[in-house]
Amino acid sequence: MASVEIEDIRKQLPNWVKASVPYASSGKVASYIPELSKAPYDALGITLLNTNGEFASAGSCEMNFTMQSISKVFTLVLALMDNGEEEVFSKVGMEPTGDNFNSMLKLELVRPGIPFNPLINAGAITVSSLIHGSSQEEKSERILHFFKELAGNDNLKCDTDVFRSELDTGHLNRSIAYFLKGNGVLSGNVEEVLDIYFRHCSIVVNCADLARMSLVLACDGTDPLTGKVLIPRRFVQIAKTFMTTCGMYNASGEFAIQVGLPAKSGVSGGVLALVPGRYGIGVVGPALNDKGNSQAGVYLLETLSREVNWSMF
Ligand code: DON
Repeated sequence: MASVEIEDIRKQLPNWVKASVPYASSGKVASYIPELSKAPYDALGITLLNTNGEFASAGSCEMNFTMQSISKVFTLVLALMDNGEEEVFSKVGMEPTGDNFNSMLKLELVRPGIPFNPLINAGAITVSSLIHGSSQEEKSERILHFFKELAGNDNLKCDTDVFRSELDTGHLNRSIAYFLKGNGVLSGNVEEVLDIYFRHCSIVVNCADLARMSLVLACDGTDPLTGKVLIPRRFVQIAKTFMTTCGMYNASGEFAIQVGLPAKSGVSGGVLALVPGRYGIGVVGPALNDKGNSQAGVYLLETLSREVNWSMF
């Protein structure tokens, strides 16, 4: 029998989604990656998954979308597993920036010129260069395999249309990567690193996939549904801390106050959030606010956290 809390959430969730959808109309679907602009602006879906394997879902939760920046959390974890903390943090810092996610401003302004954190593009591109593998294909394959394990879904794959769209129009990311290469932060072939980065941003998921992946983080790296340890606890601690301080970009402070849960957003409108020890949450709402986070999705998470009293703070 399902627990009382998830039963209550199941009853309320459709109402909370319905009340949040109108907020989408004041947001905008990302178009700087042309392929993303095809997403329906007023879609909104959510899935929650608890440690007993009980789901609560509502709205467009079965819609497919690409992970975009949400993937950065998990490539960071894989890079930490491949290289250890010391190596990763010799190339990437640990602080929020206050700048846009694709800014390169501080790379020149602040010494020693390493990206401020692994969740902005400069940091995530650097992290992509640290993934182990004997070829570019093997590195991308290892990332996809890791994501499949975390999502408990062997069918995850890269959306090649979105990938091509990013590859063709990612001029800012390309300039960031060459700048990092010039400064000796990024080693290896720049185009190969960008290929790996664009590919993991283009992995397709739905809300249930995100919920399962975040449940592993909520449970300190162990998948509670299989008992398998997928990530060392220390690296989950690092990932959750970055999600709390930088996961919602320049709205991370406001999100911490209004929702109070570790989370990570992407420009496709996805948001991954978690309730420590208890729930993984996946949300999608493609219309973004001026900070680049899902407009209706953030409103929905605010409602959920307030109604269930989930803030960690
Ligand atoms: O690098 C980019 O522009 C995208 N692949 C990812 C950006 C993203 O999701 C930023 N997040 N809100």
